[in-house]
Amino acid sequence: MRINNLEEYKLEKENFDKNPEEFWAKKANSFTWHKKWEEVLDWDFHKAHVKWFDGGKLNITENCLDRHLASSGDQIAIKWIANNPKEKNIDISYNELYEKVCQFSNVLKNKGIKKGDRICLYMPMVPELAIAVLACARIGAIHSVVFAGFSAKSLCDRINDAQCKALITSDGGFRGNKITPLKKIADEAMKNTPSIQCCIVLERTNTPIIMKNNRDFWWHEEMKKTSIHHHAEIMDSEDQLFILYTSGSTGRPKGIVHTTAGYMIYAQYSFENVFQYNHGDLYWCTADIGWITGHTYIIYGPLLAGATTVMFEGVPTYPDAGRFWEIVEKNKINIFYTAPTAIRSLEAYGNEYVKKYDLESLKVLGTVGEPINEDAWNWYFKEIGGEKCPIVDTWWQTETGGIMISNLAGINKAKPTFATLPLPGIKACIVDENGDELETNNTEGKLCVKYPWPSMARTIYGDHQRFIDTYFSSFPGKYFSGDGCYKNEEGLFRITGRVDDVLIVSGHNLGTAEIESAIDEHKNVCESAIVGYPHSIKGNGIFAYIICHSSPKDKKATGIEINDLITKHVGPIAKVDKFLYVEGLPKTRSGKIMRRILRKIASGEFNELGDTSTLLDPNVVTSIIKESQK
Ligand code: WT7
Repeated sequence: MRINNLEEYKLEKENFDKNPEEFWAKKANSFTWHKKWEEVLDWDFHKAHVKWFDGGKLNITENCLDRHLASSGDQIAIKWIANNPKEKNIDISYNELYEKVCQFSNVLKNKGIKKGDRICLYMPMVPELAIAVLACARIGAIHSVVFAGFSAKSLCDRINDAQCKALITSDGGFRGNKITPLKKIADEAMKNTPSIQCCIVLERTNTPIIMKNNRDFWWHEEMKKTSIHHHAEIMDSEDQLFILYTSGSTGRPKGIVHTTAGYMIYAQYSFENVFQYNHGDLYWCTADIGWITGHTYIIYGPLLAGATTVMFEGVPTYPDAGRFWEIVEKNKINIFYTAPTAIRSLEAYGNEYVKKYDLESLKVLGTVGEPINEDAWNWYFKEIGGEKCPIVDTWWQTETGGIMISNLAGINKAKPTFATLPLPGIKACIVDENGDELETNNTEGKLCVKYPWPSMARTIYGDHQRFIDTYFSSFPGKYFSGDGCYKNEEGLFRITGRVDDVLIVSGHNLGTAEIESAIDEHKNVCESAIVGYPHSIKGNGIFAYIICHSSPKDKKATGIEINDLITKHVGPIAKVDKFLYVEGLPKTRSGKIMRRILRKIASGEFNELGDTSTLLDPNVVTSIIKESQK
């Protein structure tokens, strides 16, 4: 499935345009099926109805594991790196992973879990999380991984929404110098989750916990009782594989549903091509399996491709800000995939943490999750990649299941702050307010996809109408991403941020990302976030929250310098009206700035901040309010 050069890349685009179904059927042919599909694609975007490879029978874990055993059973599947650098790392071969997954599949079966049951996983970044994910898929249970940083309330809501029958957790989890008492939080959640019949607990931190009779069972005790073989459940192509919750801006989280065959095909296809994975490469994605990036590009994509995937338990700054680079050096990582927020924060710690390590092994770098500003891109390219590694800026979403817009490493050109082009097989487009497609270059509008792709979400669990309303109603006949996008003179795509992050100032449409990127150019600025606040003349004024490397000596002068930079990069219309120098920004656990809160603070509405419990650090809000009242 690998595209190896620009000619093949162009040819693949032509092949897709000529016959999209044949294009995907060819990809599907390389997998293990129990029965071939009857129909490649059946779709109607008006009803948000999409089926890929209907009638086909398969199990995704046979494709991740069984089919690799004969040729590469001894190869490392998962290279696990502990939070504490003094703790021994663990290498798990494909043979061992197969056996562990089979064993845990049998554990689940013994507990009465059947095909179609929903299982909630609330675990730290340990190999057992990957094993549990794959075991669910092997027996046909639908996994719902909840990020181990979420509160008891969030966990409880997610378990109840999907009516999960079992919860898999651990006594605790290590992250930096902290221990999260996961079982204790799970106990709190399970006070209000009537659907849970059993809870399996992994021993990880030796944190004292309470085990409830007939409900709670130790992972290691259950594993001892089971065999290392398990016949995978034979699934339909469109059987649900997993649910993953993504926070809507308000109200209930959305349980995004992915199904089996299409997700599988796209996960491997996008993994191999975007990162230009070669057999033997060591690949590391630093995301958490609690997010879609971890699902598709730590577990499924790499294992489907027969790669070695690195799984890291810890955080980028423990024991110090050189941890990532120490791991790269020690393990000779070839492909490295992380988030702009991590890049910016490590840049802020200074280059001495990078210089200590030999990063020669790196071949490809990737980013995901938010727009990357030019300064961070350049630092990543120069200081980490040594100016020799292509950077893939990968745009996608929980809902898209896999990378949609990105250059392929070293094949088509990269351009700082541009995700560049849709992958062959993806028909992305930009539309105006009326939903009319803007086909020429040098245009700006809203990012849509006008043709189905195999790994797209199929529904929101239990609420198909909400799925239709959220993604298929704004522009009938198209999937609407919620993002704004600019297409330059060459037709390259640059994601300008969520459309709800757009600011209208004096009738001008301003993307927050663009302005923040200009602010971040200032040598003393580490990170910034801007929001609009009511302004009598402009409609919206611009309020900037700024984190500096060192506290600015002359705030007024700094403000003028920053506005000069904005004028230079964006135009005078985007000048900041009010500056607030802060220590931190309110971020979700996936690293996104919660602008809703910043907007309220900017307009002085301190008492109407809404729910801040899903923030990485809710204390940030208190300190920002204090600063703003000075
Ligand atoms: C939103 C999706 C995809 C895995 C992680 C996030 C933003 C994502 C990029 C990028 C600019 C990006 C978009 C998108 N986003 N990647 N390369 N450039 N923006 O998944 O939590 O579902 O968030 O993240 O706004 O809509 P998610």
